[in-house]
Amino acid sequence: MVLISPSILSADFSSIKDEIQKVEEAGADWIHLDVMDGVFVPNLTFGAPVIKKLRPFSKLFFDTHLMIFYPEKHIEDFAKAGSDSIIIHLEAYRTQEFDFSNKSFWQTGDHKNSNQETWESSGKSPLDYDSKKVLEVLKSIKKLGCKAGISINPACPVSALSDEIIKELNLILLMSVNPGFGGQEFKPVVIEKIKEFKSRAEALGRSIGVDIDNDIVIEIDGGIKPGDTAEQVKSAGATALVAGSAVYHSDNVKKTIDLLKN
Ligand code: DX5
Ligand code: ZN
Repeated sequence: MVLISPSILSADFSSIKDEIQKVEEAGADWIHLDVMDGVFVPNLTFGAPVIKKLRPFSKLFFDTHLMIFYPEKHIEDFAKAGSDSIIIHLEAYRTQEFDFSNKSFWQTGDHKNSNQETWESSGKSPLDYDSKKVLEVLKSIKKLGCKAGISINPACPVSALSDEIIKELNLILLMSVNPGFGGQEFKPVVIEKIKEFKSRAEALGRSIGVDIDNDIVIEIDGGIKPGDTAEQVKSAGATALVAGSAVYHSDNVKKTIDLLKN
C-alpha cells in the first residue's frame, strides 16, 4: 500500500481550497504543502497563515515540507496552523558556515548545478551537519503534537543521517528532484537510497510502512508520475508518493491518483 500526497504547488492558487477538495474527493490520502523561503531554495511560496486558512476546508493529513533555513523558528506556527507532519531539511543544518552574502555559494540561479549539490555529493557524514540540533528540532516537532520528518536532496547520501536521527523519525522525504520547483524530471538516484534507508532503519529496529503512528513512512518527492517512476520507487520500498504536476495538470485527477496507487 502507498499513500498519495498531491502537492498544491502545481494547483491553481486562485481557488486553492477547491483544488484541495478536488483531490480529496478523488482519493488523495494526504495534502503536500511546499513551504519555500527564497533563500534555502530559489523560490518563494507560502507560510503558516495560508495553511491555517486552509485547515477548516480539508480533513486530510497536512504534510508540510519546509524548504527553509532555521525551520526551528517556525515549527510552532505550523503546528498551530494545523500541520500534521513537519518535515525539515538536513541541508538546512550543514555545519559549513552559511555565507548569505555569497549568493553563488547557495544558488547560482541554476539550482540544478549549484555548489550546494557539489558539496552534498562529496561523501557526507552526520558530522557534516549539526546532527544534534536536527535531533533536537525533530523532538520539538513531536512535542508540538506533529509527526517529525527529515528530507534529503538527491545528492545527499543516506549515510549523512545519524542512527539517532533515523530512530526519531516518523517520516523520511527522499527528494527525487532538487527542491524549489514543480514539474522537474525524476532523478533515479533515489531508488538505491530508498533501499539503503529501508535496510538501515530496519536494522535499527524500525518498521517501514504507511502507519505513521508506528512506522517510518518513506515518502518520495519530485517528478513522480503514473508508470515507471511510481512503480520503481514503490518496488524499492516507498510508502508515500508526492505528486504535483502529475495530479494537478491531469485531465482526470481520480484516474491519475488511482494509477499512482495501484
Ligand atoms: C519541489 C517540491 C515538490 C514538487 C513536486 O521542491 O518539494 O513537492 O512540488 O512536484 P512535481 O510532482 O511536479 O515534481
Ligand atoms: Zn515537497
